[in-house]
Amino acid sequence: MTSRIDAIALDRADPLASFRDEFLVTDPAVIYLDGNSLGMTPARTVTRIHEVVTGEWASGLIGSWDRWLDMPQRVGDRLAPLIGAAPGEVVVHDSTTVNLYQLVHAALALRTDRTVIAIDAGEFPTDRYVVQGIADATGRTVRDGFVELGDVAVVVRSVVDYRTAAVVDVAAETARARAAGALVVWDLAHAAGVLAVDLGAAGAELAVGCSYKFLNGGPGAPGWSYVAAALQPHLRQPIWGWFAHVDQFAMGPTFAPRPDIGRLLLGTPSILALTAADEGIALSARAGILEISAKADALTAFALRLCDELGLATSTPRDPARRGGHVAVVHDDARTLVPALAARCVITDFREPDVIRIGCSPLTTRFTDVYDGLVLIAQLAADSSSSPADAGTDPAQR
Ligand SMILES: Cc1ncc(COP(=O)(O)O)c(C=O)c1O
Repeated sequence: MTSRIDAIALDRADPLASFRDEFLVTDPAVIYLDGNSLGMTPARTVTRIHEVVTGEWASGLIGSWDRWLDMPQRVGDRLAPLIGAAPGEVVVHDSTTVNLYQLVHAALALRTDRTVIAIDAGEFPTDRYVVQGIADATGRTVRDGFVELGDVAVVVRSVVDYRTAAVVDVAAETARARAAGALVVWDLAHAAGVLAVDLGAAGAELAVGCSYKFLNGGPGAPGWSYVAAALQPHLRQPIWGWFAHVDQFAMGPTFAPRPDIGRLLLGTPSILALTAADEGIALSARAGILEISAKADALTAFALRLCDELGLATSTPRDPARRGGHVAVVHDDARTLVPALAARCVITDFREPDVIRIGCSPLTTRFTDVYDGLVLIAQLAADSSSSPADAGTDPAQR
């Protein structure tokens, strides 16, 4: 049986352990296992936002736009190596939902001979809703799943499943879609900053993701878009804002897009949100994506081993190459267990219908956090199944 001493030894041997000291911990009693949903607060973010507010906004006033204007591209260039993109292929702007809308629209405009958009029925809700809305507005049809791609214009697909953490082979699925004549818009919301995804090597052409989960960019931090360099000049996105104009301050009568990734910009970006995103991304860049993904493997492997030993069911793949940065514990009482855990300072999250997600965020999660969290889940689960109501004496009270 794995013991807490084993977890302590793993924390001591962890080459990324010191990164936790770069984050604010306001209550040491809290065991935070939800960094896959909202990453913790880098201490540098607080300092940097203060500097930007006082030194750039208050002192520089509107003159600071000189240094702010290209921030979405600069932060994109910092993020690029973490997802296998080249400089100039990533821009950080707006929410993942908006970015997805833009790229699905733009991809459809490149496949006018086809009318089908393929997406899995179990995909994250916003992706399905965006696809349904575009199909509804443009007379396209939505197909569930990716088996038949022969008549598909655009595939929308997450790299990491938000419930099970199952990972798709991006290179193989991009190649299969391309052979069938379809374009893929990849969603890296649960992959960026935790897996060593190499979009360039995989031949991926279009992708979106967020920066507030494993990248620790802060609540509502902007999402990002990736467009392979070769595709950029051909991409016509649907929201023509002035930040995407090739000559923004000419204030001309008609829209003409920039030739580069900047054509995806819309209106004035939130500089404070971009500042926070930049600091989170910078921290991950400093740690290194290979080191981060190695720790994610180790944490999730440890969690799966504990699940087995503690008798907890999980839907997360055993193969480390097919597993993201969280572990899904499956339990009939998941809905009530999550608040019961929170009452004991263990923060996880619930996903319909029966999943407790254990987020393993490599820069902040310790092996002891995983150990303590899973042991408590097993205890509470045992209590819930041995409680009189659950024992089935009175089904009406269950
Ligand atoms: C897989 C996936 N896609 C898209 C989104 C939506 O992101 P946003 O709300 O930032 O637009 C999320 C949010 O958690 C997500 O998990």
